[in-house]
Amino acid sequence: MILKGKRGIITGALDSNSIAWKVALKAHAEGATFVLTNAPVAMRMGEIKKLAAETGSEIVPADATSIDELTNLFSKSQEILGGKIDFVLHSIGMSPNIRKNIPYTDLNYDYFMKSLDISAISLHKMLSVAYKMDALSEWGSVVALSYIAAQRVYPFYTDMADAKAALESIARSFGYHYGKAKKVRVNTISQSPTKTTAGNGIKGFDNFYNVAESLSPLGNASSDACADFCVALFSDYTRMVTMQNLYHDGGYSNTGISMELMEIFEGKTAQ
Ligand SMILES: NC(=O)c1ccc[n+]([C@@H]2O[C@H](COP(=O)([O-])OP(=O)(O)OC[C@H]3O[C@@H](n4cnc5c(N)ncnc54)[C@H](O)[C@@H]3O)[C@@H](O)[C@H]2O)c1
Repeated sequence: MILKGKRGIITGALDSNSIAWKVALKAHAEGATFVLTNAPVAMRMGEIKKLAAETGSEIVPADATSIDELTNLFSKSQEILGGKIDFVLHSIGMSPNIRKNIPYTDLNYDYFMKSLDISAISLHKMLSVAYKMDALSEWGSVVALSYIAAQRVYPFYTDMADAKAALESIARSFGYHYGKAKKVRVNTISQSPTKTTAGNGIKGFDNFYNVAESLSPLGNASSDACADFCVALFSDYTRMVTMQNLYHDGGYSNTGISMELMEIFEGKTAQ
């Protein structure tokens, strides 16, 4: 019960595959109470109601790009939960360029702005709204989910790579200001490829999931394991961790090559 008595806001639970869905289940099991939120359009699919019932949570819809809707989210959440918010999960990503299969060299710039707004600037908006409303408790914890394409090139990840680089930078920069002001910590978790709606939307996802699996000494980190890590970061056991991008990838980010991958190519050259 490491989150006993803690109040949170969890974004991004679309269906039972969503990383945020697993985070909500684990946070509930660890004693937290929280509000679930997602874009109103995602809400129409109705799945989130099942999660709300299972975790005894209320749902407050909010488009994470709208300051008004985020303001409503933070004020309603404090009302519902009965006090300031101790943890926030930012689990939001979307690229219209990826959805429409547009290559990186020919990006549609209106879509690009949308990718950045939804996937990165929304973290700044959430933090800024919370900061101005003084909605987060001292030693509160904000976690956003990222991907290693922020540091290295993954051609098929196109403009989401730029969005993740911005997301990680915002976590660092806001982490400084919020840390100074209220001891609130802000971190990103750089997660392995994970089979979710957002993940499967990326071209060639299955191949790249398998390559990452063969490169990671521990294998790809599952969404359940990611949820455990999020809960640890929300808890008081990680109070001095802030402004970090933390790899949660089974060792992938520090592996150059694996024997398994070498063997695949040995087979090819022998043929
Ligand atoms: N799946 C992977 O391989 C992987 C790997 C590393 C990081 N991540 C990141 O994890 C996070 C969660 O993604 P997921 O894989 O669980 O997929 P998902 O599709 O289940 O979650 C993405 C969520 O973003 C929400 N969203 C989109 N636009 C929004 C808006 N305007 N306002 C509020 N919410 C909005 C969607 O409704 C959805 O719930 C994303 O940031 C994603 O980039 C995913």
